[in-house]
Amino acid sequence: MNHFLRATRKHFFRVSVNFLHSRRRYFSTERDLALPTKTIKSILESLAINNEVEVHGWIRSIRTQKNVSFANVNDGSSLKGLQVVLTNDEAKKLTTGACVKMRGILAKSPGDGQSKELQAHYVEILGECDSTYPLQKKYHSMEFLRDNSHLRPRSNTFGAIVRIRNTAVLGFQNFFQKNEFFQIHTPIITSSDCEGGGEVFKISANRPKETTENFTRKEDFFEMPVYLTVSGQLHAEMLACAMSRVFTFGPVFRAEGSLTSRHLAEFWMLEAEIACLFKLEELLYFTERCIRETTRYILDGCTQDIEFFDQRMNKELIARLENTTNNPFSCLSYSEAIDILSKANQKFEHTPKYGCSLYSEHEKYLATDYCRGPVFITDYPREIKPFYMRVNSDGETAACTDLLVPDIGELVGGSLREERYDILEQNLKESNMIQENYQWYLDLRKYGTVPHGGFGVGFERYLQYLTGVENIRDVIPFPRAASYCKY
Ligand code: 4AD
Ligand code: MG
Repeated sequence: MNHFLRATRKHFFRVSVNFLHSRRRYFSTERDLALPTKTIKSILESLAINNEVEVHGWIRSIRTQKNVSFANVNDGSSLKGLQVVLTNDEAKKLTTGACVKMRGILAKSPGDGQSKELQAHYVEILGECDSTYPLQKKYHSMEFLRDNSHLRPRSNTFGAIVRIRNTAVLGFQNFFQKNEFFQIHTPIITSSDCEGGGEVFKISANRPKETTENFTRKEDFFEMPVYLTVSGQLHAEMLACAMSRVFTFGPVFRAEGSLTSRHLAEFWMLEAEIACLFKLEELLYFTERCIRETTRYILDGCTQDIEFFDQRMNKELIARLENTTNNPFSCLSYSEAIDILSKANQKFEHTPKYGCSLYSEHEKYLATDYCRGPVFITDYPREIKPFYMRVNSDGETAACTDLLVPDIGELVGGSLREERYDILEQNLKESNMIQENYQWYLDLRKYGTVPHGGFGVGFERYLQYLTGVENIRDVIPFPRAASYCKY
């Protein structure tokens, strides 16, 4: 017994020494190791004047007067930079684009345009910038900025996009957590084509071939056709059929032939999947709440940035977003929509026809001109929609919806999912899909099937809607599209 106690004590001692060692990671105090400077956003919003502060950022502009100079320093944390007051001698050493560290006293600013300024007494250049810097203080077109995507985040426009992107992610997160969803992570590499549209990027990789007496390892890495995912939906359904409410947010990939201002080859999709959903109307109501509450969150959290886009891109932006958050969305069936389009006092390039997909021009007419706000189009003919959508009792249409918004067209696609084994099996056959590959999907309908449904929001299209930015390539840091993969 004694021997046992001694051994245990010895072991305990060794463990505690190891524990102490592993705790001693830093030799400086925690105070020394905190991030060195406050962001300009927090200085402008909450720091009282007469405090000593240190900032770092990039010079946006320098203005020299007779006795004094002003530099505008921006660190990306807010649209507004910090005005720094310098001597003319110090200002001479600085150039637009340079990265600087400055210390000084925060003072009340007598000038227009800002309430606080920094009276600098210490200026250090962390990174010089020569006169070839492309982002001088003048107007730059969106195309020019896109061609300089490595520097684009330093422009007002793209900085605002990055901040709104960030807040939009938080807004969706909050919404789903509040509604008791689990965030899940669906795979990027998959062997299924969810939308069945054949717009998949096939991927392949080799490994060394290996042959032993009773086994041959093929060169093909997966030994089956695999693709980059076009949607996380099918995988989300597996999780929803156990966890009840799930959402996934990740990149998806489509080999889109169409080179339009609304299509990317790589974009982000927010997808929700909900078990025990019985009526399409329930899905519409939930989708509407999701868009409405997230938009409210962004309007409140990114007021300055949204105002910037309201002034620069679209003078009706804020009114439109307020309308989105305050008023119920419209709703039309597909056949009503075709009817409205056929009678519209407008010449379309493609004549609207029952049984055909709606073109972008039709979608824009319905949302922008006819409904003047977001509109759900429901119950499309089955043949023009994917195999997983629930067949309506008429046998002709699917219990599905596209949410259309002004100037963009389709923002969200969703449906009830076919939860009946036999009908799903039939759908797979009619869509020429190999049943064997989707047996697991059918199994979900055999082992405790549940009426369910969900939707997917095109995240970049949503950002276009929030900002009024016309080209989808200007709301994602590094756009990928047919014939375009710079960086
Ligand atoms: O309508 P889609 O194809 O729906 C799905 O993929 C479903 N599986 C989603 C689900 O129910 N879980 O795509 C959803 C949204 C579209 O409404 C559109 O906003 C966006 O994704 N989208 C694109 N965005 C940018 N570039 C593209 N090439 C896009 N294709 C679709
Ligand atoms: Mg769609």
